[in-house]
Amino acid sequence: MGRRLNPFVPSPLDVVVRALGEVGLGRESVLVDLGSGDGRVPISARRVFGARAVGVEVNPRLVSYSRRLRDSLGLKGVEFVCADARSVDLRGANFVFAYLTSGALEVLKPVLLTAGEGATVVTHDYPIRGWRPSEVLSFRSSETQRRHTFYVYRLRELLADRLRSRESVSSPGLEVSKLVFSDR
Ligand SMILES: C[S@@+](CC[C@H](N)C(=O)[O-])C[C@H]1O[C@@H](n2cnc3c(N)ncnc32)[C@H](O)[C@@H]1O
Repeated sequence: MGRRLNPFVPSPLDVVVRALGEVGLGRESVLVDLGSGDGRVPISARRVFGARAVGVEVNPRLVSYSRRLRDSLGLKGVEFVCADARSVDLRGANFVFAYLTSGALEVLKPVLLTAGEGATVVTHDYPIRGWRPSEVLSFRSSETQRRHTFYVYRLRELLADRLRSRESVSSPGLEVSKLVFSDR
């Protein structure tokens, strides 16, 4: 089993659903939750938005619980994988959700970039250090009675930003491949 980056703390679903709606999750979307806990985010992505969804979770008990919950709801199009989030390739996902600390997200930067430039990364309550969010959303939860913040990173904008800042110091001779994968 992989190393646990953060303990299980569930996201309140009222604000998660609002955030996922705001960022444009829909029937054609594929969402991956990195550290999916009890499966609530992928299951809601499927039930509320019709998206296909995958939960990646290192704790096998939480994976079993998520699969049982999915099956009890008769849901198809939601998978739970017992794996270390650091070993995942996100190609094919266009939305990535993570409720992990900034330290854990720092470690996962190379993984997040594998989603490709068309993807949107949404982090709950913790920003990704050194990445400028495209949007910051904040909603009050009636479950927790507090505000929750969602940092939205459109990877296309993030990569374009990096390209611009590098261009201004090192053009010509810009190496796009090094820019795109500078977190590796
Ligand atoms: C704060 S909880 C978030 C759960 C869920 N995403 C939510 O928002 O309700 C973080 C989850 O990440 C899982 N986790 C921690 N380290 C991990 C790793 N290296 N790979 C996969 N999952 C991990 C924990 O077991 C825990 O369930």
